[in-house]
Amino acid sequence: GMGMAITGCGSAAPQAVLTNDHLSQIVETSDEWINSRTGMKHRHISSETESLSQLSAEAAQNAIAMAGISPNDVDLIILATSTPDDLFGSAVKVQHLMGATRAVAFDLTAACSGFTFALITAAQYIRTGMSKNVVVIGADLLSRWVDWSDRTTCVLFGDGAGAVVCQGIENSDLAVGEARCGRLLAYGMYSDGNQNNCLNLPYQGQSKPLTEEITAQSGTYQPITMNGREVYRFAVAKVPEAIEKAMFTAGLSNEDIDWLLLHQANQRIMDAVAKRLKLPKAKILSNIADYGNTSAASIPLALDAAVREGKVKPGHIVAASGFGAGLTWSAAIFQW
Ligand code: ACO
Repeated sequence: GMGMAITGCGSAAPQAVLTNDHLSQIVETSDEWINSRTGMKHRHISSETESLSQLSAEAAQNAIAMAGISPNDVDLIILATSTPDDLFGSAVKVQHLMGATRAVAFDLTAACSGFTFALITAAQYIRTGMSKNVVVIGADLLSRWVDWSDRTTCVLFGDGAGAVVCQGIENSDLAVGEARCGRLLAYGMYSDGNQNNCLNLPYQGQSKPLTEEITAQSGTYQPITMNGREVYRFAVAKVPEAIEKAMFTAGLSNEDIDWLLLHQANQRIMDAVAKRLKLPKAKILSNIADYGNTSAASIPLALDAAVREGKVKPGHIVAASGFGAGLTWSAAIFQW
């Protein structure tokens, strides 16, 4: 079947930046508490006039420019988000804003695993030959869904969007010895609904009598709730396991991994995972100080910065893992 290469990346973030000191004027917290427990210093927060669709389209346009393709070449857009502008889906709005008129577009919801789940989904479409040029976007505006009086959650999240271009490559095109070049090498995705109550953005229905026979529900969403300690424990246990499985499938050992690209939830989680995988801290790609936890956007945002800074170079092997609400987790190892 077809292999999948990641040929471009891009990102976009809202203009406004909120510092830890700003936050300490909103809730009882401090720069010291936030930075020492999470590694976060700033986060970007969307204004009323910025939308998830716009930021996603901007990230996607930057990614297709790097890949050297035009909007017309795109045949599939998968938007991983938990915070669409429209619950019916925002991917089609992104398609319109990008001018990708040939593409089919849909949303995928898997919280902070959304980007890696979407990347792995794209690989299946490419493998069957159904799609050739896929734009995978991870974007979230969680600032719109936190309780800004709850210091245990509101300090953690920021907004942003990141995208990659995935293209089908004939396995037979690759010369012997180059067989791994620029490809998705191995992946896995996992779910455990048993721990679903660790991290939620719940719908609260209210009964509404419609007729004598029918009582319908209408209601609203409640802000994010989280059991931070449980999520921490889960991540440190499951993420190294998932990456090790994928390394085994790809026939790689830890010395082969050039970069560890984890969902940016907490610097301490990233450090602990690196330690379990026996990878030096210098191999961790982190943008958490500047962006906080941007949910589905965090992996492509960090990848884009690392590629544009020249850290991630052609041939480098990147071990990525998204994890979060669901609970869900995943690993994707690719060569840039
Ligand atoms: N400022 C000051 N004090 C605070 C704050 C704050 N922002 N938040 C909590 N505290 C207090 C608590 O009230 C508690 O006080 P108490 O001891 O008097 O009760 C104390 O600080 C310690 O709180 P803990 O929750 O035990 O702190 P912990 O060291 O576990 O750190 C944290 C909390 C940072 C949330 C950590 O557990 C964590 O990162 N967990 C993982 C969370 C995560 O990754 N979530 C997202 C993943 S999925 C997704 O991205 C959607």
